[in-house]
Amino acid sequence: MEVGLGQNQTIIKVGVVLDLNTTFSKICLTSMNMSLSDFYEDHPSYRTRITLHVRDSMEDTVQASAAALDLIKNEQVNAIIGPKSSTQAEFMIRLANKTQVPTITFSATSPLLTSIRSPYFVRATVNDSSQVKAIADIVKSFGWRSVVAITVDNELGEAFMPFLSDALQNVEVNKSAIPPEATDDLIQEELLKLMKRQTRVFVVHMESSLAFRIFKKAREIGMMEEGYVWLITNEMTHMMRHIDHGHSLKTIEGVLGVKSHVPKSKELEDFGLRWKRSFKKENPRDELNIFALWAYDSITALAMAVERTNLNSSCYDNGSATSKYMTGLGNVGVSPYGPSLQKALWEVSFKGLAGDFNLTNGQLESPKFEIINFVGNEERVLGFWTPSNGLVNADSNKAKLGPVIWPGKSNIDPKGWEIPGKKLIVGLPVKRGFLNFVEIIRDPITNKTTAKGYAIDIFEAALKKLSYSVIPEYVSLDSPHEYTSLVYQVYNKKWDAVVGDLTITANRSLYVDFTLPYTESGVSMMVPVRDNDNKNTWVFLEPWSLGLWVTTGCFLVLIGFVVWLFEHRINTDFRGPPDHQIGTSCWFSFSTMVFANREKVVSNLARFVMVVWCFVMFVLTQSYAANLTSFLTVQRFHPAATTVNDLIKNGDYVGYQGGTFVKDILLDLGFHINQLKPYYAADEALTLFSKGKSKGIAAVFDEVAYLNAIISQSCSKYAMVEPTFKTAGFGFAFPKNSPLTGDISKAILNVTQGAEMKEIENRWFGKKNDCPDPKTDLTSNSLSLSSLWGLFLIAGTASFLALLVFVVLFLKEHRHTLCDESGSSLWRKLKVLSRIFDEKDFKSHTFKNNSVHNVSSPLTDYYIRSPSTVQIIPRPPSLSLNREFELRRLSSTQSEEWFTMQPIYHEDGESDIECVVEDKIF
Ligand SMILES: *[C@@H]1O[C@H](CO)[C@@H](O)[C@H](O)[C@H]1NC(C)=O
Ligand SMILES: *[C@@H]1O[C@H](CO)[C@@H](O)[C@H](O)[C@H]1NC(C)=O
Ligand SMILES: *[C@@H]1O[C@H](CO)[C@@H](O)[C@H](O)[C@H]1NC(C)=O
Ligand SMILES: *[C@@H]1O[C@H](CO)[C@@H](O)[C@H](O)[C@H]1NC(C)=O
Repeated sequence: MEVGLGQNQTIIKVGVVLDLNTTFSKICLTSMNMSLSDFYEDHPSYRTRITLHVRDSMEDTVQASAAALDLIKNEQVNAIIGPKSSTQAEFMIRLANKTQVPTITFSATSPLLTSIRSPYFVRATVNDSSQVKAIADIVKSFGWRSVVAITVDNELGEAFMPFLSDALQNVEVNKSAIPPEATDDLIQEELLKLMKRQTRVFVVHMESSLAFRIFKKAREIGMMEEGYVWLITNEMTHMMRHIDHGHSLKTIEGVLGVKSHVPKSKELEDFGLRWKRSFKKENPRDELNIFALWAYDSITALAMAVERTNLNSSCYDNGSATSKYMTGLGNVGVSPYGPSLQKALWEVSFKGLAGDFNLTNGQLESPKFEIINFVGNEERVLGFWTPSNGLVNADSNKAKLGPVIWPGKSNIDPKGWEIPGKKLIVGLPVKRGFLNFVEIIRDPITNKTTAKGYAIDIFEAALKKLSYSVIPEYVSLDSPHEYTSLVYQVYNKKWDAVVGDLTITANRSLYVDFTLPYTESGVSMMVPVRDNDNKNTWVFLEPWSLGLWVTTGCFLVLIGFVVWLFEHRINTDFRGPPDHQIGTSCWFSFSTMVFANREKVVSNLARFVMVVWCFVMFVLTQSYAANLTSFLTVQRFHPAATTVNDLIKNGDYVGYQGGTFVKDILLDLGFHINQLKPYYAADEALTLFSKGKSKGIAAVFDEVAYLNAIISQSCSKYAMVEPTFKTAGFGFAFPKNSPLTGDISKAILNVTQGAEMKEIENRWFGKKNDCPDPKTDLTSNSLSLSSLWGLFLIAGTASFLALLVFVVLFLKEHRHTLCDESGSSLWRKLKVLSRIFDEKDFKSHTFKNNSVHNVSSPLTDYYIRSPSTVQIIPRPPSLSLNREFELRRLSSTQSEEWFTMQPIYHEDGESDIECVVEDKIF
């Protein structure tokens, strides 16, 4: 074992700290010695020769530290190799840092060691955190939503967890820690606990010996069956086959493992053969493992580095060792060659047995992992994982691994979760009323809880649509509870689900996942309708607002006036004594309301105004009629008008369904807690209403679904009114990240969109009852002026324009009166004009036409009864009596008299013409 030394060769002392009693250490030590002899055989001319000083760490942290201290103080070694475990390594690394002695480990993989940040620590193995991405990619490629990490309860496990959780974003990671010295009973207990949970994906990270015991137990209790997924980390994947002399592989059949890739090479093969020859002689059943290869490479690297460093003397500065095991650390020396050796080590680069040996920041990098499937006695390589390419299938270039033989020899990819014992613990709300949503039935004999109702039917219909079977086991609390506390039962993992009339709210979804809603909903207010037995006398006024009534009235008068203005000079209908004229005008315009006006309109201006007005009138009457109809219908359900603000201000009591979140809404709205009265059934709500405002309640707030149930019990007495607060509807609650949420949501959509939904609705809510739509607005429906003012604008503008034209024409016609040079005062002129205005306009065609057509006989043919009134018997029988006409008679006086003649019809068929004499002045 000793290397033959030449004259001019320097001896370099290297300490080795290993648990010498373990096979692992024996294997590694053998390969280290082989490495030394191989190296110096290949490089006989090298100036340096490494000698190994081996110390036993006795599988103990303190012993390992003591051994290292001994090596440093007494042997004054230039470097240390070892120890085996990360726990042992920690103190040694700190010591190495202080004494500047490079320490190489080929088996301590904990990422925690990096955090010591010692440049003298060299990790000639891959750290645990480099594989978590590979594990995460496997988990994600199979779509598993939650995993349980089973780790050893020490630094190794603890250091691994944060990296795993980090890599498994969006996947729930639960932890189960097994003490390193756990008994089989404790392991079994822990595994049974895991078995009861839903998650079926386990990532195991620990020493392989402990892992093997866990797998043995798992197989015993049936956790290595179909549906389970086991993933093991690098060390175990490499080491499992060496435990139990190769029989362990049967135990872990179906397990997936991540394993750093060792490229095949001639050197490796060669070494394997030689190693077998030298080691297997004494230990025929042991096998070479990856750590032995890393140990081999570590020695090679160290030998190369030592040769490159100029080491003349190996004495420490200040290395005054006085006694053998010194406990004081203060007088430990500092290796003078530490810095240069460390530098040389970091720069070493060669092709080792375990692959390229390149250090980055003092750590070996593993660029490639194999994904292994343990099948029978072999390790099947499913694929590879690299940081740049992720997962690659070994056969095809697909990202998906496979085909995998899973535990239980199954080749169906597991879902990753299962309902323990195939039963889903479903919590139900206990209700006193509204039992058509959920009703709990307890069998008095078997004590079994069953349930029925709308929500239950939808839930069970959804379960049937799942591609796997889920059997619900219904449970409930003892008495009615806040719905939020049901949610907490799921959050605390007591129940697997809550099914019932559970509203989806933001607050609740912080604790559980909701499925999609199975019914839409919202919170609304319900109030009693006003007692309308004595019909409202003045209902006919209500379709229009007061403003509209007044405006319409004013416009009627205005239009009457305008028409009179245009007509009275040329239309005998609008003539007569002033009171008659006023009467006629008013009568005329009011009768347009029903289009019953009998008077003819002859002026074009008046016709224009009338056309517009008739249109306005048409719209007004139509809308009045329509509105009146709705008023007469709606009257029956007119609610006792109250708004939320009124209720708050008046301090009225309001009801809400006990246990629901409606209470929170009401408190948010500003109700005082004393104003709220809970009820638990429709009857209770109705009883509260019947007690009146002061002793009972004035309004009820609840989900629309319940309000409909209350209203259907007493159709005409209550009405739902605005406002409605939108809620997301009723849904089922599952624990966060439960894979059931998505599947049930899909199933619910399937149910609600199918014909089944109608059946379920009919079963629990019957046919829609005949209550008219109870939704009525609290605000009055009266048509107000604002909605129709455009009409009045049109009518007003038309009248105004016509009036303008009329005035202009009138003034133009009589401009000679205004502008004559007679010198009379303006007052006088206006008086004359107004006089003219009051008179008939004989130039109007209405008068002209009549005289031309109808007065064909000489005047003398008529017999005049009196000076003022004449009765004229028409001579020619052909005289048309349908027309009005006027006669002009010249009198002896300067003034002329005009006769207005109208036909008078007698019963015997004869007709007279009445002639009214009026004075006219020119
Ligand atoms: C001393 O080392 C040199 C190379 O460094 C070598 O050539 C020489 O033979 C060695 N001398 C002895 C006596 O071994
Ligand atoms: C672990 O190794 C990888 C490279 O294999 C490196 O990127 C990473 O920083 C290391 N992590 C720790 C904590 O040492
Ligand atoms: C039924 O359950 C109650 C408690 O919920 C229990 O006290 C009672 O013994 C049970 N009866 C039967 C027959 O299991
Ligand atoms: C959710 O509601 C409960 C009870 O109403 C309350 O105690 C809790 O603080 C709320 N949580 C959040 C995050 O608002």
